[in-house]
Amino acid sequence: MRAYNTSRIHQLSAEELAVYRQLDPVKIPQHVAIIMDGNGRWAGKRALKRFLGHQQGAESVQFVVETASRIDLPYLTLYAFSLENNLRRPKSEVNFLMKLLKSYLVGNVKRMNENNVRMAYIGRIEELPTEVQETMQWASENTAKNTGTTLTLALNYGARTELVDAMRLALKDAITESEGDFGKLQELVKGLEERHVSRRLYTANMPDPDLVVRTSGEQRISNFLLWQIAYAEIFVTDRLWPDFRGIHLLEAIADFQRRERRYGGLGDSFTDENLAEQRSEAELVRR
Ligand code: FPP
Repeated sequence: MRAYNTSRIHQLSAEELAVYRQLDPVKIPQHVAIIMDGNGRWAGKRALKRFLGHQQGAESVQFVVETASRIDLPYLTLYAFSLENNLRRPKSEVNFLMKLLKSYLVGNVKRMNENNVRMAYIGRIEELPTEVQETMQWASENTAKNTGTTLTLALNYGARTELVDAMRLALKDAITESEGDFGKLQELVKGLEERHVSRRLYTANMPDPDLVVRTSGEQRISNFLLWQIAYAEIFVTDRLWPDFRGIHLLEAIADFQRRERRYGGLGDSFTDENLAEQRSEAELVRR
């Protein structure tokens, strides 16, 4: 059996290692979520069909996953196919993306195991074609024992739909628990808190993302993990997804580590003592 507690940093490329050395290993984010965008533009720039952009995008996925696993990133979530993609893109493109997903999974489970990566999915999976669901299940079962990075693919995913699904579940659970007692139902509704919603999301078993990366320069969230990214840092790069590699993930993490996260507070440099000091300075100015 392989021992996985040994560092795999030495497997980074020389260029990746140079960026990794600038990082504080203690402050590696727990969870990075990526909006992979720009496959179509990448192909268009080369006068290629959009399909080839997606194919190249699937190659980027594997490069990025392997770098993530080498630095021991606990969770990596990739927006691979949105509900809106499913509804609004031509059938031929949707069919191609489904085929690509299947062949990606079949072709990469071995590498996932070599890299100790566990596969998971979020989204309305049950609406995907049956044979795709079967391959997805096969891939998650065959990587379930891995203990390194959890790679979550968001497929047929929409954040508002996820919230609707969570609300439905919360209501259903409250109705069951109240056993027809209307007063009890009212109490349960009154007692509903954030944690009750969080644990009914598709992401119930993972921490919220610390960092969201979006490629291809668009400054949008596009209905991705709306609840979970309340306090995430956002990093937008002009690079198109098929050109994105592990080194770019490391650069995004380096940028993330330079930010001060405040969660609605004032940050570490503001204590009651130095706020009082500032107040007396302000009073001096006013006199
Ligand atoms: C956005 O590019 C990307 C997608 C809609 C799908 C993402 C899919 C992949 C990266 C490849 C397959 C993934 C896996 C996991 C095998 P776009 O088509 O919107 O690009 P554009 O905005 O330039 O047209």
